[in-house]
Amino acid sequence: MRSSIVISLFFLFIVLSGMMLPPLMNTPVLPSTPYDYSSLNLPAHFTGNAPNSPLPTSVNGLDNTPSDNPISDHGATLGRVLFYDKMLSTNGSISCASCHQAANGFSDPATLSIGFDGGTTGRHSMTLINARWYQRGRFFWDERATTLEEQVLMPFQDPVEMGLTLAQLENIVSNQSYYSDLFISAFGDSNVTSERIAKALAQFVRSIVSFNSEYDLGRSQVANPGQNFPNFTTEENLGKQLFFQTIPNGGGACFGCHTTEAFVSANPGPQNNGLDATTTDPGAGTTFQNNPIFDGRFKTSTLRNIELTAPYMHDGRFATLEEVIEHYNSGIQAHPTLSPALTDANGDPVQLNFTNDEKAALVAFLKTLTDPSIANEEKWSDPFSVVLPVELVDFISSKEDDGILLQWITSIEINNEAFFVEKSNDSRSWQEIAEILGAGNISMETEYSFLDNDPIEGIQYYRLSQVDYNGSISYSKVISAVWERSNISFSIYPNPASELLVVETYEPWTDRELQFKILNIEGRTIEADIDINQQSQTIDIATIRPGIYILQLYDQKELIHTIKFNKL
Ligand code: HEC
Ligand code: HEC
Repeated sequence: MRSSIVISLFFLFIVLSGMMLPPLMNTPVLPSTPYDYSSLNLPAHFTGNAPNSPLPTSVNGLDNTPSDNPISDHGATLGRVLFYDKMLSTNGSISCASCHQAANGFSDPATLSIGFDGGTTGRHSMTLINARWYQRGRFFWDERATTLEEQVLMPFQDPVEMGLTLAQLENIVSNQSYYSDLFISAFGDSNVTSERIAKALAQFVRSIVSFNSEYDLGRSQVANPGQNFPNFTTEENLGKQLFFQTIPNGGGACFGCHTTEAFVSANPGPQNNGLDATTTDPGAGTTFQNNPIFDGRFKTSTLRNIELTAPYMHDGRFATLEEVIEHYNSGIQAHPTLSPALTDANGDPVQLNFTNDEKAALVAFLKTLTDPSIANEEKWSDPFSVVLPVELVDFISSKEDDGILLQWITSIEINNEAFFVEKSNDSRSWQEIAEILGAGNISMETEYSFLDNDPIEGIQYYRLSQVDYNGSISYSKVISAVWERSNISFSIYPNPASELLVVETYEPWTDRELQFKILNIEGRTIEADIDINQQSQTIDIATIRPGIYILQLYDQKELIHTIKFNKL
């Protein structure tokens, strides 16, 4: 018969090292109420056609938003974070914004963009402004993506650009703690799928529209874009006239291809504006292979913010707008697919023969399309680079008898209304468990603590959300702690024993880093003659003198229990 002593339950606490979690970079700083992406509030000239205009001027009917992915404020907010998140590339170095920079009209000042591993893209980056008003709804210079939702997943998988598989992308997004709330708000639950990533990114991209330029200011004051704008200089009005007029009327017919108030190309899509006499890049010819008219033709994206998106054309061959205008003026090349709008009555390339003043005027007009709100609107800006109003120098957890103690220290606080302690058992869905008032504005170290006296069995995660007086929220890194109600019930037998003391535990000692010590009744350690066999979990007590002894159990050097036994 074995007599056994079952050791009562005890609590075992391990503070897990940060290595268990993905390294937490910056977290995005977002407003507590999302920015407005969904209501467009377009000026009237966007929604009503100008009277007597030979071509439509409004954007009516151009929107390529699919019925199953309308813009929502939460969806576009998620899209914004995805767009600026460098974690979403093989080595954490590149985000969409690396090649589509708001300050450059969401294009890239580099002729060819640099991908995650230093490789270069095949073509010049494109502006993302007014993507939603490209009626054909196809994307890339060669229109190879049939929808924006399809397009936005392609850079992730491009071996030069971001270098991921969709499975890796989903994984990385799932592992960033800040995404779960964003997915819940946008889609109702925290499930991360590439389809949802695509939808959110497409919503964000479609939200980027421009109608706050000098051009718009003038346009809103006249009935027709052909009229002189009161806010324009004489030069700008001349440039506008050349832009809108047909070639026989002394203009450049630019509006024929860069059309509507969105200044984006209309159906039937890709054109050849005479860059090369022989095809150097087949462009849309590769996408529409059975139609030779597309050979050497390219998509035209919007001319809005064109001043900021240099260099120009699909290969970035022109460094300045002056070079672009000179191209249209004197450089158009004959090519089998040259767009008829740029040929004369004999089918030869047109020569516009502009004077220097006219060329300068066209450039001046193009610059009136610059819209500073594109780079200045917070809703389109990088949420990762927001300066945190509170500098958190430390955020740690530790074990107390009655729960898990969280402590944090701030070095500077600006406008800090409060901290909310948030807890999660999966680091995805978070629950608020406490509100701690902030110090407001303070520039010395301030300590805070909170005891979670209701820890859950196993691992739990904590983060702080810090709320400003103006409602902005930012999140701390996530820390974790394990609270384990360990039922290593173990027993020793026989007791009393004469030679071998067998210790029964659920798990081998070696896995648990359990250690034993035997003390005599005076509390002195008996070491010399005892053989503790890790494999058989036996303690050889043959050589110790009869009497009462104390067996101590240590876990990771911490004494966790003491049992008495009787040596015969
Ligand atoms: C390494 C640079 C790079 C990165 C990163 C990158 N892009 Fe691009 N993007 C480009 C280039 C270059 C093109 C044009 C390529 C072509 O047409 O062949 C382009 C084209 C596009 C277009 C087509 C625009 C149009 O009007 O047809 C969209 C939309 C776009 N990118 C969105 C994104 C999004 C969203 C991301 C992030 C998921 C992203 N890009 C990441 C370089 C990049
Ligand atoms: C037949 C249609 C057509 C006409 C007419 C036309 N363009 Fe273009 N434009 C294009 C196409 C197509 C592209 C892109 C070509 C490429 O990159 O291969 C383009 C590109 C541009 C670009 C550079 C865009 C960028 O993002 O790099 C500017 C600027 C421009 N055009 C201005 C003008 C002006 C000014 C006129 C009138 C003098 C004009 N265009 C007339 C079709 C046209």
